[in-house]
Amino acid sequence: MLELIGRYRIHEQIGEGAMADVYRAHDPHIDRPLAIKVLKAEYRQDREYAARFLREARAAGALSHPGIVTVFDVGEVDGFPFIVMELLDGEPLSEVLRRGPMPPSQVIPIAIQLVDALAYAHGQGVIHRDIKPSNIILSPDGRSLKLLDFGIAQLAEADPVAEADSYKTQIGQVIGTPRYMSPEQALGRELDVRSDIYSIGIVLYEMLSGRRAFGGGSAAAVTAQIVNVDPAPLAEVAPNTPRGLQFIVGKAIAKQPAQRFADAARLSDALRRELSVAQVVAREAAAQRSYLPLQVRLTLLMALITAIVLAIAVGTVLSRQRAAMRGVALSSGNAISAFVANNAALRAVDNAALPADQQDWVPVQAFVQNAAADPNLRGLLVTDAGGVVRAAIDQSLIGRPYRAPTDEPLVADRDGVTIRAADGGQSFRFVRPITYAGRSFGTVDLRLNQAILRSAARVSTWLLVLLAVVTLGTVALVSFLSARLLQAPITRLGDALMEIARGNLDFRISHSRQDEFGELFDGVNLVAQSTQERQEAVEALLLDRPAPTQSPPPPPPPPPPAEPPVAEPLAASSEPTPFTRPMEPDEASEPLGAAAPAMEDVAPEPPAEAVEEPEPVIAPPEPEEAAEPAQVEEPEPPQEMLAPPWPHDEDEDRTLVDPQDEQRR
Ligand SMILES: Nc1ncnc2c1ncn2[C@@H]1O[C@H](COP(=O)(O)OP(=O)(O)O)[C@@H](O)[C@H]1O
Ligand SMILES: [Mg+2]
Repeated sequence: MLELIGRYRIHEQIGEGAMADVYRAHDPHIDRPLAIKVLKAEYRQDREYAARFLREARAAGALSHPGIVTVFDVGEVDGFPFIVMELLDGEPLSEVLRRGPMPPSQVIPIAIQLVDALAYAHGQGVIHRDIKPSNIILSPDGRSLKLLDFGIAQLAEADPVAEADSYKTQIGQVIGTPRYMSPEQALGRELDVRSDIYSIGIVLYEMLSGRRAFGGGSAAAVTAQIVNVDPAPLAEVAPNTPRGLQFIVGKAIAKQPAQRFADAARLSDALRRELSVAQVVAREAAAQRSYLPLQVRLTLLMALITAIVLAIAVGTVLSRQRAAMRGVALSSGNAISAFVANNAALRAVDNAALPADQQDWVPVQAFVQNAAADPNLRGLLVTDAGGVVRAAIDQSLIGRPYRAPTDEPLVADRDGVTIRAADGGQSFRFVRPITYAGRSFGTVDLRLNQAILRSAARVSTWLLVLLAVVTLGTVALVSFLSARLLQAPITRLGDALMEIARGNLDFRISHSRQDEFGELFDGVNLVAQSTQERQEAVEALLLDRPAPTQSPPPPPPPPPPAEPPVAEPLAASSEPTPFTRPMEPDEASEPLGAAAPAMEDVAPEPPAEAVEEPEPVIAPPEPEEAAEPAQVEEPEPPQEMLAPPWPHDEDEDRTLVDPQDEQRR
């Protein structure tokens, strides 16, 4: 192994490309680590390779951008050239991608850096022409990158020879790596910055999907695919990719340069827009995960609202009812105690005038015993003016001194009557003085049972709750059914809009609705119809035929040919058809991919493009494009050019150079 190149001390090899080996090195003058790229031994004899190698140094050396590797020095020792660069810490993107796809949230920011680096290079007149994962180094944290390997860059100004005949010399030579080459590069045609945009698109496709845009096979087979085949849509191979990003990648890898982003700045703008909506998209995705069907959402919402209203209503009714029942209990207890006090009053007044042994409490006691028959009365006693119990339901109390309980919670105290909650809340106690002519002659203590009130309240509570449950169930059921009624037309509308989005306009929604949905269906039908008419007008224009109109009757059919006409699939499919043409079953189920090529033949601009860049839609295709299929079918030029074979899949890093062209130089 080399020890010294010039003043640079060589350490271990850190990379290998098609033409060169890259070593870690050390510059003793500045005392810093470096990377040195050295032409492989087998190419060192060839002056042309050496010249190309030095061109890289000139191209990259003129560029100074955080996204592009910095070239410090270039030189030649013992007849072989070398390039001295900053030593990049990190891993080639090709290695990173071996581990699988990268999340869109990581891809977008680094794609912006890559595109900005490229926009800068393009602004300096440098087209990279060899953008691929092995020429991109990702920083160890995976958040930034550097573009390297300007070995086949095209220098607009710095290279007068290349400038003079750059386009000419490219015809008949293919440079670049086939897998990431744009179709025009693969065909050896004139190329511009949009070729780099294409290659970036393919790199982004691989980052997002973790798979190659174009399958294996020989370089010629890959080239044929690049020219003819659209890679599997990202929606299928990387369904997590936001739609906007899918669109950006799709536009970048359009076969026709005119359909791509016009320059790197526009691609960068589009990616920045995508980055700014990424958060919104992420939030939507999170919401999508907890997505519940309309029926469930509406049912839950209505049930919740009803439950809240019912809870408030039932609660109010019950508390009012309880208050009313209490009022009834209190006034009835009050009335009974008043009745007892009045009955006992005369006797109490009489007895008060007599000595104790002549007093007669028998009538009062008889009255109290009578009252005891009422189950609502839990207790009743009458005392004399001296506070001795003279009559009571509980006869053991008779003759004992009476002490009004004061530890029971007070409920009310009015007109001399004290009402307390007795027996642990089971009853009300009414304590009322027996008065006569303004004097007190004793006390009536009466306890009224609350149990009956309570059980009445319990029954009405249960009835109300039952009513609430029935109401709630009814509301939920009605909401569910009505949401289901809405769901069906919404699904039909969504399906119809998806059909239109896919480019299938051969359908009309059948319906007999007289409501708002009927109007929406008619609206969708109109959109399909008018889009179809416009599309047919464009097709007719492109085929140089009068546009089919509805009103004039079709011209009389030409006399039948002698032979039955041979099926002409292309002509038949591009035949303008009146928009009322019924949908054919197989047409309806035709997959998107199958329909696409036919459409491209007649109208290369997909509808999405037409919205953004309307001009190309009406522009007739360039004659060169019209002849495309013929070229596509016999890709000899590329095959010939690719003749030095790179038969294996793993040859991604091979740079295709036509040595003869090199000699011509
Ligand atoms: N400055 C550098 N720092 C670290 N690694 C590098 C550097 N330059 C190149 N490499 C590594 O060497 C590999 C080949 O370099 P490259 O310039 O692409 O050579 P080639 O022109 O032969 O393709 C790269 O894929 C990368 O892994
Ligand atoms: Mg390389």
